[in-house]
Amino acid sequence: MFIEDLVRQFKSLKTPFYYYDLQLLKQTLEQVHTHGISKGYHVHYAVKANFNMKILSIIREAGLAIDCVSGREIERALEAGFQPDQIAFAGVGKTDEEMQTGLDYNIFSFNCESLQEIEVLNELARKTGKTANVSIRLNPNIEANTHKYITTGLNENKFGINPEKLPDLFELLPRMDAIELTGIHFHIGSQIRDLQPYIDLCERINSIQQQFDKNGFDLEHINAGGGYGINYESPDEEAIPDFKAFFEVFDNHLQVKDGQQIHFELGRSLVGQCGSLISKVLFVKEGINTDFAVLDAGMTELIRPALYQASHKVDVLTSRKPEKTYDVVGPICETSDTFRRGVPLPELKRGDLVAIRSAGAYGQVMSSDFNLRERAEAYYSDEFNGK
Ligand code: LLP
Repeated sequence: MFIEDLVRQFKSLKTPFYYYDLQLLKQTLEQVHTHGISKGYHVHYAVKANFNMKILSIIREAGLAIDCVSGREIERALEAGFQPDQIAFAGVGKTDEEMQTGLDYNIFSFNCESLQEIEVLNELARKTGKTANVSIRLNPNIEANTHKYITTGLNENKFGINPEKLPDLFELLPRMDAIELTGIHFHIGSQIRDLQPYIDLCERINSIQQQFDKNGFDLEHINAGGGYGINYESPDEEAIPDFKAFFEVFDNHLQVKDGQQIHFELGRSLVGQCGSLISKVLFVKEGINTDFAVLDAGMTELIRPALYQASHKVDVLTSRKPEKTYDVVGPICETSDTFRRGVPLPELKRGDLVAIRSAGAYGQVMSSDFNLRERAEAYYSDEFNGK
């Protein structure tokens, strides 16, 4: 991925920085088109994964819709050229102002996560003289087999309405005169590599849909959320997730009614592999058990290892020496500021460049200025080779 000429150009840039391979992003989107969109599925990009304008424009041009979780994400999506009727607005804690933003633009759907939210939205919509399109986010209680911090569809999670509350919902909805029920929404978690949780989800959706039917509610759409994972261990062997297998689960297991639309909200699987965090080795320090390679990037640029014990592959760009074992750490005053422990890498020296891979999703956008550090720049492949 990092050819010599590119690495030579990296050497003149201030580190750390994010590098985005737009060619890979486009190839990934083509796969989503071939296996999903061209079959009639509606795919919203979860903008939370990466809100860079350049990335958003490419995703819009590829024909995807958008999934937002804040008023500012709605504004960013519109700025990037998405249409209001492409915007799904999720979130367990929408403020009145954010709901108002959605109402003002007449967005595609408010994915409501509690009965109280529905009542507040109804009130705001009534005052504004509008009707809000609502999709009900239900918590299906499905084990997603992922890190517990990014599991969202279990009873213990704060997200969605428990299906046991459906009788209350069916009683409430007819009284909500400024709300139009258009669909149901689910999102069971993130970095889901195994397809079984999606099969379980389809079966759960089928039975929940029957309950809506029985109560006389017709659903224009079903939104199955996102969460499809990427290969962090071997990003070059699996640069593009297997979207064929993903969409086939829904072809085979979801009962879709005539004219009903099926929506998805994918984030990581679209942008994860196209981004890398490029960093310089500041010091190599001998330790008691392993040596430490101290980088100029840390948890302020990429918090995933510190927050979710995530393991991102580290590629050494400027050394071909025999391997030694390192703990690859950042400069921040926190022990959790560690990218990898005990990893064999070509021998490193001060000034070597490394790429921390698969950092396109939840990388740059989760960065902070803790320790008053500067925010890292972003560079895109078309600035280097025209692609
Ligand atoms: N839809 C909803 C309602 C969501 O909450 C999320 C992600 C997505 C879609 C997109 O999920 P994806 O396809 O990207 O998995 N910061 C964590 C991930 C948090 C995901 C939050 N919700 C990480 O770095 O692993």
